[in-house]
Amino acid sequence: MRRKLAAGNWKMNGLAASLKELAALAQAITADDQTGILICPPAPLLYRASEAAKGTGISIGAQDCHGDADGAYTGDISAAMIADTGATHVIVGHSERREAHHEDDAEVRGKARAAHACDLTAIICIGETEAEREAGNTLDILAGQLAGSCPDNATAANTVIAYEPIWAIGTGRVPTLEQIVEVHDHLRAKLIARFGDEGHAMRLLYGGSVKPDNAATIFKADNVDGALVGGASLKATDFAPIITALQ
Ligand code: G3P
Repeated sequence: MRRKLAAGNWKMNGLAASLKELAALAQAITADDQTGILICPPAPLLYRASEAAKGTGISIGAQDCHGDADGAYTGDISAAMIADTGATHVIVGHSERREAHHEDDAEVRGKARAAHACDLTAIICIGETEAEREAGNTLDILAGQLAGSCPDNATAANTVIAYEPIWAIGTGRVPTLEQIVEVHDHLRAKLIARFGDEGHAMRLLYGGSVKPDNAATIFKADNVDGALVGGASLKATDFAPIITALQ
């Protein structure tokens, strides 16, 4: 049995006042052992979010880290700095970073490795563009990203994979359940081929326009172990029903 995970990626949204959403979320949901809940706020909020989340059953994660332990990298943050705030997870390889910051699979793999070295769980994102899907290349593209972005030491405990079709992010467009099943089954097979039992136990999240009204359908797929949610994670009133659909 894989423990499910409802993860919220606040992206570049949220100020200190937004942390009231954590308390509201904790009130709205009943935390259970089967389902993890994670909020990834912007870096300046990580420490306060970690403090605010204590005792709620909600975990806190960052949205990116550098691949090196330290050095002359103005504006970047290391995995150790993230762990030092009390956060336990970090998203790496989000398509917005792959695109805007030109991150490739090797860099993402280095970031995941850096996260693991600091005992953080890395949430490794992969996803195809609309043009790649239309050309019929989705499964090959994803297999390549998965192979290149996952370090060899990945385990079910230190790594979560998030499939986020780029064309579905923030657009309100969602793949059909059949398309999600096809991708997640394919990714599961690749993970098992490479990591054996660990690959079987690794969580596979779906991300891209997950909303309260489509979550239950998406979660029907056997190999969907949860969601990475953007816009609908900002407000507890939206995120709570998504979590409930997963539980
Ligand atoms: O990382 C989550 C994300 O990219 C999906 O965003 O707003 O479509 O749920 P959204």
